[in-house]
Amino acid sequence: MLSTNHIIDMSDLTAEDIQTILDTAESFKEVNERRIKKLPTLRGRTIINLFLEPSTRTRMSFEIAAKRLSADGVNMTGSASATVKGESLRDTAMTLSAMACDLIVIRHKYAGAPRVLAESMDAHVINGGDGMHQHPTQALLDLFTIRERLGKLEGLRVGIVGDIAHSRVAGSLIPALRMVGATPVVIGPPTLMPARPDILGAEVSTSLDEALPDLDVAYMLRIQMERAEGMPFPSLREYARFFGINRRRLDRMRPSAIVMHPGPMNRGVEISSDVADSDRAVVLNQVNAGVAVRMAAMYLLLGGEAV
Ligand code: CP
Repeated sequence: MLSTNHIIDMSDLTAEDIQTILDTAESFKEVNERRIKKLPTLRGRTIINLFLEPSTRTRMSFEIAAKRLSADGVNMTGSASATVKGESLRDTAMTLSAMACDLIVIRHKYAGAPRVLAESMDAHVINGGDGMHQHPTQALLDLFTIRERLGKLEGLRVGIVGDIAHSRVAGSLIPALRMVGATPVVIGPPTLMPARPDILGAEVSTSLDEALPDLDVAYMLRIQMERAEGMPFPSLREYARFFGINRRRLDRMRPSAIVMHPGPMNRGVEISSDVADSDRAVVLNQVNAGVAVRMAAMYLLLGGEAV
């Protein structure tokens, strides 16, 4: 059981909840390595995936996670829903509530949309990414991956590099790292920092080269041209030159340090292809962890005991 009914932002969770989710995900990861990857745990429960923005990793992993727990999963995308006819989110929520679903996973372009949903229905809500706000299950799978690879979380220094101002991944990962005793270090050009980086609760650096040698993790954010108004730096080549991870920079990191990326990657911009495909990058481990962590989140929200 968790201390919350919803996972909408990291502040919904306690440090103990995070620990419970990560430990439970470890058991589910073992299930995912079996030939028959299925448990009867959520039989008879109905889970709706309401994805009103594009997604590959988050949507597919929630779908797979629901199937592996034997829940009845229903998927709804933006173009196929009545939102294109102008239905409000509150009306959509009440409509889905009338169908007695147990849990909704929502991705929406507007920050705050998952909270509106949670306030308008009885079902549990998981935020699959809302605008520039948060993406909490991404942060949880990132913590899982770091702990799996480096054996601990407490005391680590995690550099989050790039578009801090527009990133919901950073929005969840910064508080998540603090909750487990790690130190977030945000790194990027001033044009990609929020107006008040000092209130993020992270160390702030404008030089990747200076920050790199002291990091345990370099977490490269995607450059999100679809959210930024124009290019907030001279060119992609210039960005890659100062803020992209490449082999030369990787060689300046601690031998145990790892490189992470939430995907989808812009190869050659925030991460070079040789680094992305190297054994120091854990991008596919993150994707793999995503299924187990989302199984754990759904299972625990729906009343399961820690395993
Ligand atoms: N990391 C992530 O949220 O990827 P998708 O947009 O593919 O879901």
